[in-house]
Amino acid sequence: MKKLLIHGPARLAGTISSSGAKNAALPLLAASLLAEEEVELHNVPQVQDIRTMLRLLEHLGVENEQLGDTVLLRPTGRASPDEAPYELVKTMRASVLALGPLLARRGHARVSLPGGCAIGVRPIDLHLSGLEALGAAVELQHGYVEARARRLVGGRFRFSTPTVGGTENLLMAASLARGTTVLENCAREPEIVDLARMLSAMGAVIEGAGEETITIEGQDSLGGAHHSVIPDRIQDGTYLIAAAMTRGDVLVEGARPADLAPLLEKLDEIGALVETTDRGIRLRHEGEIRPRGIVTEPFPGFPTDLQAQYMALMTQAKGSSTVVETVFENRFQHVLELVRMGADIRIDGSYARVHGPAQLSGASVMATDLRASASLVLAGLVAEGETRVHRIYHLDRGYERMESKLQKLGARVERID
Ligand code: EPU
Repeated sequence: MKKLLIHGPARLAGTISSSGAKNAALPLLAASLLAEEEVELHNVPQVQDIRTMLRLLEHLGVENEQLGDTVLLRPTGRASPDEAPYELVKTMRASVLALGPLLARRGHARVSLPGGCAIGVRPIDLHLSGLEALGAAVELQHGYVEARARRLVGGRFRFSTPTVGGTENLLMAASLARGTTVLENCAREPEIVDLARMLSAMGAVIEGAGEETITIEGQDSLGGAHHSVIPDRIQDGTYLIAAAMTRGDVLVEGARPADLAPLLEKLDEIGALVETTDRGIRLRHEGEIRPRGIVTEPFPGFPTDLQAQYMALMTQAKGSSTVVETVFENRFQHVLELVRMGADIRIDGSYARVHGPAQLSGASVMATDLRASASLVLAGLVAEGETRVHRIYHLDRGYERMESKLQKLGARVERID
């Protein structure tokens, strides 16, 4: 298995470019199931989750061709399965995003239930009750969700809690429903806005994406689109945190300040100099890091997907800080590994108390999920000596060429077998 070998400590300096957002690209790819014509998607990141989604789409009858970071998706028209099998869903939960579009377009969908994962239970009950509100008959059998509706009918549905994937599934399904759908208490993440933009280019009529209430006028059919995926705020945020941690000077070209506002506010509070320009975001930091707590929340709150990386940063702050995780039940698995590297962190339920600054020392550490892996890489950058991050297939699911970006910034990082 591949590992990342990091020789620390490092000071990151230089310029890197943003990559396309995995969590935006995944629903955009799923939305190609709704199209009757070709969809051309630009700025698609070359990461493992995208490859998995392309395999699923191929299986479901959408031919795809990849030319660098552009993907062409063509509906084949031939009879294809309406089923997302366990083998694909188990490696990537986002396969569940095929449910809404398959059902809306073909009247039937069978998708393996994703089950729990390392960061929490992650049910899809709200995706299902939302589809039921649009007239679908949903059954759970043999570990699969089976949904049917000759034609979905617009309706009103309120998410009891905002869900990113649930909002995306419903947005796609409602775009082909008969009549008007009103979705309330929707997730407001930038990835939702990006999906609505592409659906609109395909002919959907959507109002309010990025707000709590979204109204969708369903159409009889949707065409193709040319669309460019938004920059990945989580990857960009990870490199900005790395710059602060290593007392570096890094410009992330293409990064969008509005998408990263809650992180930028914290980086400013800890004493870093954050400059937002037309080109992107530049962060410089020297001297002490001030401790500042965070509470993860749905957008526009502090993103859970940057919690682990921010905690690695707080191990270097002078004093105590609290990190509270409210989105997922089990997203502190990086803590034990950070402690093995010398961090002083105590957990009490969803609270973690970090005391710093800790002199971290390089160690062999095990990645448990995508963002936990990133936090271990960041810790490796400030640790004395050699850090080996095992199981980096987690990292490869969502970070595009991480080691080459870090190398470009002056870090000594290599991938080894
Ligand atoms: N939830 C329910 N019922 C549902 C759906 C969600 O109770 O039907 C709960 C979840 O258990 C969780 C909360 O609602 O406690 C939020 O989950 P959400 O549905 O918003 O998450 P998701 O759509 O499964 C996406 C990202 C995650 C990111 C979360 C939160 C994609 C492909 N994944 O997941 O990304 O953490 O939103 O922002 O967009 C990652 O990239 O590392 C990652 C895990």
